[in-house]
Amino acid sequence: MGVESTLLIIKPDGVSRGLVGEILTRVERKGYKIDRIEGVTIDRALAEKHYGEHKGKDFYDDLIEYITSGMSVVAIIRGENAIENLRFLMGATNPLDATPGSIRGAYATSVTHNMVHGSDSADSAAREIELFFPESGR
Ligand code: RTP
Ligand code: MG
Repeated sequence: MGVESTLLIIKPDGVSRGLVGEILTRVERKGYKIDRIEGVTIDRALAEKHYGEHKGKDFYDDLIEYITSGMSVVAIIRGENAIENLRFLMGATNPLDATPGSIRGAYATSVTHNMVHGSDSADSAAREIELFFPESGR
């Protein structure tokens, strides 16, 4: 609660399909500021750190392969209740469960190719921001 920072990732198919502007527009229109942003091809070591909680699950290999498959856009998003509200804007993990007005509900095609990532808690946000923007001074 209050003003928070969270990590947004527009995953590789969001970039390759040309939906970066569309997604950032939704985030900005909701009322959030982009504090930092960069395009990066996430390497295996970074992907494994970021998604470490899922190691050993049946979808883990697909997840790592997908997130490292091309350029992503990674951003620190800041504003009121940003962590929870961004997750709400993104919609449920599986696009079939996401409401049509959400980013995943509108644009994503499968639970693997689900377009965006948002930190799921204050602890995750702090950890992920440090991972992707180690010089950000948090
Ligand atoms: P994310 O971390 O990417 O923002 O997604 P999330 O919090 O909504 O979902 P999470 O449980 O953290 O899962 C991370 C990513 O793993 C893939 N996944 N596949 N096949 C499956 O059942 C399954 N479950 C999860 C998704 O790509 C999800 O974004
Ligand atoms: Mg997650």
